[in-house]
Amino acid sequence: MKILVIGGGNMGLTYAQSFLHSRITNKEDMMILEKSPKKAETLALKDIGTVYGNAEDCIAKADLVIFAVKPQDCDVLFPSIKPLVHEQQVFLSIMAGVKIETITEALGVKKVIRAMPNLPAQIGMGMSAFTSSDEVTRIELVMVQNLINTTGKSIYVEKEEAIDAATAISGSGPAYVWYFMNAMILAAKEMGFSSAESELLVSQTFKGAVDLYNKEDFTCEEWIQKVASRGGTTEAALKSYLDNSVHKDIVAGAQAALKRAIELGKA
Ligand SMILES: NC(=O)c1ccc[n+]([C@@H]2O[C@H](COP(=O)([O-])OP(=O)(O)OC[C@H]3O[C@@H](n4cnc5c(N)ncnc54)[C@H](OP(=O)(O)O)[C@@H]3O)[C@@H](O)[C@H]2O)c1
Repeated sequence: MKILVIGGGNMGLTYAQSFLHSRITNKEDMMILEKSPKKAETLALKDIGTVYGNAEDCIAKADLVIFAVKPQDCDVLFPSIKPLVHEQQVFLSIMAGVKIETITEALGVKKVIRAMPNLPAQIGMGMSAFTSSDEVTRIELVMVQNLINTTGKSIYVEKEEAIDAATAISGSGPAYVWYFMNAMILAAKEMGFSSAESELLVSQTFKGAVDLYNKEDFTCEEWIQKVASRGGTTEAALKSYLDNSVHKDIVAGAQAALKRAIELGKA
């Protein structure tokens, strides 16, 4: 299967490199279309397939076309490639907020898969949600899921609205985690630890807590009970979080992200 990634930025490069590292495809079948000549030159040095500057030279050859440009760039991209695409091709879009219907209408194609990855895809620890138009066959869907899974894990969602919800949870989620980590690092520094010590104390605590959570079959609440003994330090922190409605604020933050994802999808 010949794969064309349009947009050789952060995500496009991550996808191309993940596919190749996993050996799910090879360099001969990988193509990247990048409009910036400088970036194209840098990409060519990475030896991750053939890099093109013109859509005319590569689109028709592809079985799978991946859209990894910024959402606002598709207004220019779609009209320019419309005469070059054909109905048998499968299209995978990772552009935030761009609906399947927008793509099928703009290009006159039918087989479209929409995925929402997140940044840890860069190290093979990403989380993606994806959905597809009815015309994508089961075999095509499995092939694309195998490609997506080279960047981490994924779930298939039936309804496209769930992609907006996944954007608010796993798409933006790494930033929420870093926000909480940053607050903990500041607290550690205030308590007298050096920057390096604070970062290690916090990052290893996050990693250990998540790994333990994934290893055993307890809920977050059950794990909290295991750490928080009555009258102890953890209980004091949790009471402070409760008094300051931190839990409610985190949920409200995710809801705000969902509202924005829906607004962007309408723009
Ligand atoms: N980064 C994330 O964490 C993340 C997570 C989930 C989804 N996404 C989605 O992934 C997409 C890409 O994000 P990114 O962070 O990888 O963006 P990026 O680093 O800006 O990469 C996009 C690349 O596409 C190029 N490009 C623009 N128009 C083009 C065209 N017509 N033909 C060929 N290349 C073109 C851009 O070139 P110029 O720089 O010259 O414009 C740029 O090199 C976005 O739609 C975003 O919503 C990103």
